[in-house]
Amino acid sequence: MAVAMRHSADMSLRPILRMGHPILARRAAPVGDPTLPEIRELAADMAETMRAADGRGIAAPQVGASLRLVMFHAPLGDENARGIDNAPLTVLADPVIEVLDAALDSDWEGCLSVPGLKGMVPRARAIRYRGLDLEGRLVERVARDFHARVVQHECDHLDGILYPQRMADLSTLMYLNAVSHEE
Ligand code: NI
Repeated sequence: MAVAMRHSADMSLRPILRMGHPILARRAAPVGDPTLPEIRELAADMAETMRAADGRGIAAPQVGASLRLVMFHAPLGDENARGIDNAPLTVLADPVIEVLDAALDSDWEGCLSVPGLKGMVPRARAIRYRGLDLEGRLVERVARDFHARVVQHECDHLDGILYPQRMADLSTLMYLNAVSHEE
């Protein structure tokens, strides 16, 4: 009985905060050492929560932890592929983004904290990002297009920014099921 209880404590779903919650509007604090057990536990919970909600990415503030920790599925090979296949989960603590191509492309985004809606968001076309994985190793990549978009979206959460604040044209903010043949 005790063994079973210990086993079940590994991961748990956490509630996803919604737009309007003050934690989502706050600048999150640095993680520092991502190898600490509490950070690994937080990351495991984020991964399970993201999967259960069918998300592509999630940031710690979305589950109520005001820390600079994000994770996302972004394709590493064909950068324009949107499928989750061939898109391993990347975990980044204390990520930093450098814009390589400031040309803006607009595309649809959604967010687990803004459920049921989508909007067209302009984002920098190419970036370089750096952060630490859960082993404390440096991750550094150049990302373009959809990959760059996902990373910019998740890192915005760490500065209290949700995608509607990045939108250039609020007339494109709409419900996913507003038009029956879409999504
Ligand atoms: Ni989001």
